Amino acid sequence: MSFFDYRDGVLCAEGVALPVIADAVGTPVHVYSAGALRHAANAFMSALRGLPSARFAFAVKANPNGAVLRLLAECGYGADIVSGGELRRALDAGIAPADVVFSGVGKTDQELIDALEAGIGQFNLELEEEGRVLAQLARRRGMRAPAVLRVNPDVDGGTHAKITTGRRTSKFGVDIAGASDMYDRLAQLDGLDLQGVALHIGSQISDLEPLEAAYRRIGALVLDLRARGHPITRVDLGGGLGIAYRPEDVMPSLAAYAAMVARVTRDWNVSLTFEPGRIITGLAGVLLTRVIWVKPGLSHPFVIVDAAMNDLARPALYDAYHRFAAVRPDGTTMVANIAGPVCETGDMFGTDRTIDHVARGDLAVFHATGAYGAAMASSYNSRPISPQVMVDGDRFELVGDRTLPFDTPAPLGCKPRTAGSVFDAELTQAA
Ligand code: LLP
Repeated sequence: MSFFDYRDGVLCAEGVALPVIADAVGTPVHVYSAGALRHAANAFMSALRGLPSARFAFAVKANPNGAVLRLLAECGYGADIVSGGELRRALDAGIAPADVVFSGVGKTDQELIDALEAGIGQFNLELEEEGRVLAQLARRRGMRAPAVLRVNPDVDGGTHAKITTGRRTSKFGVDIAGASDMYDRLAQLDGLDLQGVALHIGSQISDLEPLEAAYRRIGALVLDLRARGHPITRVDLGGGLGIAYRPEDVMPSLAAYAAMVARVTRDWNVSLTFEPGRIITGLAGVLLTRVIWVKPGLSHPFVIVDAAMNDLARPALYDAYHRFAAVRPDGTTMVANIAGPVCETGDMFGTDRTIDHVARGDLAVFHATGAYGAAMASSYNSRPISPQVMVDGDRFELVGDRTLPFDTPAPLGCKPRTAGSVFDAELTQAA
């Protein structure tokens, strides 16, 4: 099911033609589909709902937009957070503190205190000392902090090196080899209510095998901890499921994932937590952009768009592929390099790509930008953080404003503008 489709030759987000959004808000703009968000959120939950007491905490880092978080909260999602800022956004979106899980390898004392005082449901400990500090902070407040120990299972997620987290050499979790002894020590602390273990081996995982291997390792750890007398009631299986960015990408189905989880965890007798990010919001967003120039190149032209690596960092950071499509395709194609205006050679969205034919002034999109798109935006080159729009049926709403950080007084381009103003319409027509 696609929520971004052509109607009468024009790409629409649900019932709204994208040129209407470009006219109202300007470009570049991140456009989300509420229908696509609900669809993905419900599909993930219903695939796993059969499992005993599964809990769902959306990984806020994938898309921290308030409107997105509110919608997911309505669908029954809690939040997996990694900073005080994400805590605030989750609570502002109406997510109950008890449904918040605090991951992250470097939580500051202030962040721990704020989360304790908010009454969050679970701290995922990344090292023994963090457990001791948290226990102390909790005891001083007459509290016991609900916590699990994040374990590093030493399994390669088989994904891009920069987003694999489950190898022993990475900074995340505690080495599984010493995890039981550490658990024994942490379980003795008054200020901690240690309830189980957690893992997360990476993101954009396209194969169930490494996930299964990691889950089996943690299952063996659960048995060992029980044998040591610990009442293990929670296991947090993290996130990581990938999405299809290219038309030819084949990803494991949710049904296959759910069947694997059911098989592996059958005898664990725990409440499972899932922390999905990308699979919930990734396909629910596009980055709408306008072609500034088609500049001749050595072998192929450069299609220079008004979106850049500051709006969508994934291609520059991970050589990630995002499908490019014209909003009003004329049925012909061209081979081109797609580039942003930022003054870095790496500000490229693709090279030697066969794409819809586009010309100066045309609108186009990068697909599948709903996760780690706007979330990773910067204002590099003093480009504003792009606005965000939520479409629901045939209505749309501005849910994130164009802003330019660094306190520039009255910055140029910070007011919503009409799309045409990027160009001088008369000149464009005359050309
Ligand atoms: N839980 C933890 C502890 C995580 O570190 C992450 C992602 C997630 C859950 C959610 O993972 P997901 O279901 O979205 O794969 N910026 C990169 C992705 C970084 C992911 C970091 N951790 C990208 O654009 O590909």
